[in-house]
This record gives sequence, C-alpha cells and structure tokens, in this order.
Amino acid sequence: MTVQETGPLTTEAGAPVADNQNSETAGPAGPVLLQSQHLLEKLAHFNRERIPERVVHARGAGAYGTFTLTRDVSQWTRAAFLSEVGKQTETFLRFSTVAGNLGSADTVRDPRGFALKFYTEEGNYDLVGNNTPVFFIKDALKFPDFIHTQKRDPYTGSQEADNVWDFWSLSPESTHQVTWLFGDRGIPATLRHMNGYGSHTYQWNNEAGEVFWVKYHFKTDQGIRNLTQAEANRIAGEDPDHHQRDLRTAIERGEFPSWTVQVQVMPAADAAAYRFNPFDLTKVWPHADYPPIEIGRLELNRNPENVFAEVEQSVFSPAHFVPGIGPSPDRMLQGRLFAYGDAHRYRVGVNADHLPVNRPHATQARTHARDGYLYDGRHKGERNYEPNSFGGPEQTGRPLWEPVEVSGATAYGAAPVHAEDDDFGQAGALYRLMSQDEQARLVENLAGFIAKVSRDDIAARAVDNFRRADEDFGKRLEVAVQALRG
Ligand code: NDP
Ligand code: HEM
Repeated sequence: MTVQETGPLTTEAGAPVADNQNSETAGPAGPVLLQSQHLLEKLAHFNRERIPERVVHARGAGAYGTFTLTRDVSQWTRAAFLSEVGKQTETFLRFSTVAGNLGSADTVRDPRGFALKFYTEEGNYDLVGNNTPVFFIKDALKFPDFIHTQKRDPYTGSQEADNVWDFWSLSPESTHQVTWLFGDRGIPATLRHMNGYGSHTYQWNNEAGEVFWVKYHFKTDQGIRNLTQAEANRIAGEDPDHHQRDLRTAIERGEFPSWTVQVQVMPAADAAAYRFNPFDLTKVWPHADYPPIEIGRLELNRNPENVFAEVEQSVFSPAHFVPGIGPSPDRMLQGRLFAYGDAHRYRVGVNADHLPVNRPHATQARTHARDGYLYDGRHKGERNYEPNSFGGPEQTGRPLWEPVEVSGATAYGAAPVHAEDDDFGQAGALYRLMSQDEQARLVENLAGFIAKVSRDDIAARAVDNFRRADEDFGKRLEVAVQALRG
C-alpha cells in the first residue's frame, strides 16, 4: 500500500482546505452556502468518477510482468522482442470474465479474457485472447447479437436461458466452444491455474519476407485447477472478488504466477490445402498436425498501484501489431481490428493510448495526431503535419506484415472449401478427450441450463447440436434434460 504524504489538504486547484468535515453554512443552523466551493467541487467530481464500463469483459484484474524469450524464432518472425534468446520484455496482463458487469462475481461459468500487452521497443504489441482456444462464432457481424443473449434481457433485466440457447442452437458453430465452457475448464479455480490462448491465427513474417501462420498458447506453470459448479456458486456468495484477490495476494507473497509460451507454426503454403479453414476461430489446430513449440515464459510479478488508473483505464487492441506480426484473414479478427480502438475512444477517450499503462514503455509514440480531451501537450510546438520541411517523424516504407494473396468475387457467407469445415467434428473430439467423470459433469452442467428454457423446440435443437458432435454425448444429454424437464 502506498504511504500517504502529509501536508495540507487542498482543493483541485491547490488552495488549502480549512474544513473537510463540515460545509460552510449560513449560521450554525442555516442552509449551506453556494460559496461552499469545496463541497461543490467534491460532489461534482464524485459524480464523474465512473467511466463507461467495457461493453464486454467489464469485470477484470491485471498485473505487470515479464516475458522472456527462450527459443530463437527469427526464422519465423522479425519482431525485435522475439529476436534474441534471453531477451526480456515488460508486459501487462488483464484477466476478465465476459458477460458480467463491473461488480459481478468472479467464479461464474464464462470464458476468461487473457489480454496481454507487450511493451516492446518497436511499440506495444497487444495479444487480446481468452483462456479458451476457440470462440462461439466465426463472423464479427454476429458478435453484438451473441453478446445481447449473454447480457441482460431488455424486458426481464436478467440473463435468460431462452435467449442463450435460442442463439447457440441456431448458431451450430458455437458447439465446440459451448462444450469447452461447460466442461471442467469452464470455471477456473484461480486466474493463475488456467491457460491462455491467442485463439486467432496471426501472421508472423521474417526478415526475408516469408509468411507463417501462428497460434499462441500460454500453458499455466501452476497446473490446471478448476471449480465445480457447486464450489463456484458457494464462493460467488462468500467472496465475489475471489479471483482478483487471489491474483493480487499471490503476487504480494512473491508467488509469481507464470505461463510457458508456445506457438504452433504453419507455413503459409499449407493454408489453402489444409483439412479445414485454418483461419476459422471455432477450430483448434490439432497438435498432431502442428506441434506446439516452446518459445518463452511469461511471469506476473508486479501489482498495479491504482486499479482504476491501470486496470479500468487499460486498453488492449488486436490491431496493435509490431513489425513482423500481423493479422490473418480470420473474419472475426478483422472485425476486432476495428472494434477495440473504437471502444477505447468512447470508453476512455481519444487520448487513451497515452495514459501511463497504455503508452509504449520501451519506445515513444510519434504521430501527427493532436489535441482532443485531456491532451497533455507532449508534442509542445512540434509541427503537426507531413510532408513538411522542418523534420519530425517519418514513414519507414516497410509495412508491419506481408501481403496476402486473395482471389474470387466479393461474397457473403461463401461455401466451405475445405473437407472438414463442419461445425461439430472438434466438439466431438473434445467430448471424447474428456475423462468419464468430466463427461458426466459436462452433461449435468449443460442439462441444468438447457432445462431452464421455456420452449421444447429450443431445448431439442440445443441437444441436437451436441448429438451431431457425438452420438453418445447427445443421447446422454437428451436423457438428462428430459429428466429435469419432466
Ligand atoms: P490435441 O492433442 O490437439 O489437443 C489436446 C489439448 O486438449 C491439450 O492441449 C489439452 O490441454 C487440451 N485438453 C485436455 N483436456 C481438456 C479438457 N478437459 N478441456 C479442454 N481442453 C482439454 O488433440 P485433438 O486434436 O484431438 O483435439 C481434441 C480437442 O482438444 C479439440 O477439439 C479441442 O477442443 C481441445 N484443445 C485443443 C487444443 C489445440 O490447440 N489443439 C488446445 C486446447 C484444447 P493441456 O495440455 O493444457 O491439458
Ligand atoms: C473486450 C469487441 C471477440 C477477447 C472487448 C471490448 C469490445 C470487444 C468492444 C471492450 C474493449 C474496451 O472497452 O476496452 C469484440 C468483438 C468481437 C470480440 C466485436 C468479435 C468480432 C473476442 C474474442 C476474444 C476477445 C474472439 C478472444 C479470443 C476480449 C478480451 C477483452 C475484450 C480479453 C478485454 C480486454 C481488456 O482486458 O481490456 N471485446 N470482441 N474478444 N475482448 Fe472482445
């Protein structure tokens, strides 16, 4: 905890305050005077303490850390922070739940955000992932509808099973992620005991301009630990801030959580003929096809000093790339490249990227953008246009990422072109990978939620998607749902 400075209390403008316990009144029993400026300033500032919460991932906790490169990856990327074994880069990681509001309980069944900022010498690189390797949908156009079903219903004001299962059952591409979510890993015991994933496929490119597609995995060194639904429900009542507290106190004790960082690397030439679309966010790349390669270690070792300044006002954007790293044609990712910067400008303001937690720490941002709310004047009298005859920052001529071949006519929802572009195969593989016990808990968790829907057709359609993933899965679920619905 920070030690308080002593000295006179002041107004916002720095003038000493005589009385911070009593307002100035008209006589001892009279009303408060308008000239009680300290009172007015205090109330007005208080009214403006909150900024809009994140429209998703509102509830979160963060910590600073260090990424250490343990393997030479220069054959795949020219990113400077990935250039030398042993090189260390400062990071900031924010964990979150997705659907709940700012004050909601930590131990809910929900994906966990895993938003990681690398403060590299070539600018900040943000990898805004989750603790799951896949997602519910594969086109950004569906994201607002999907989130509406997860959030509060406009009439009841609560999350409604009807909305959730109506959307999921009509969006069969969600089957894999939903199977994952209702399995044991759907409620991590702590933020330290879960993996993180970049989830999307990203581009790496090397000095020679060769392109590779990569997926990131952050494997917890603490081991995977989860909560059962019953344990999670109990903790949500007893200690809603459980995950946030656990992370902070572990770091305070010097028990620094760490993750082993791995990548799967696909040479660009493999993509077209792969057995499914390698840019489809509802699918993983099986390890047998592209084995995870260990490249580094991420350790969290410093708590933020002020949660609002450093966690609430932190911003992460999938569009924050550095030389040697870029986007893939994943159409979810493409939508996200727009959505985050837009959200930041609304939620924190146009100068969000210049707050201490968000600005580059190992280099400086040099742009011609100026002014706006809370501009700090950092450019002093520098010219704010280009080209000019007075010097200043100049373009490099080399894009961060390499061009990608595209072909064909513009289209909506083009037909699958790969042999295994279906919505169910990997959900079935995940079910079959689970132990008997986990399968039983998965069926119980799903059935308990599906049984809450008001209409039989929605329940039947939901069960049917899991049957298409795996016959046995579907059969067991149907029996369990029927037993609960009567
Ligand atoms: P893979 O060998 O490619 O993947 C197995 C992975 O599954 C391991 O990384 C393991 O993570 C993870 N896993 C093990 N148990 C569970 C569980 N109960 N819930 C969630 N994940 C688990 O095998 P397959 O190609 O056969 O893939 C099977 C399924 O594994 C996929 O459909 C996918 O759902 C899941 N998976 C795959 C990943 C991948 O990148 N290929 C990553 C994560 C999950 P760990 O080593 O940490 O235990
Ligand atoms: C937060 C949009 C998909 C992970 C957010 C925010 C928006 C958003 C607007 C709030 C940003 C802010 O206010 O700072 C979208 C859209 C998506 C999408 C439009 C689909 C096209 C995903 C996916 C993942 C993800 C697929 C993970 C793989 C996160 C995380 C945060 C977040 C971790 C919290 C970041 C933080 O800690 O500040 N998303 N999202 N999102 N999203 Fe997404």
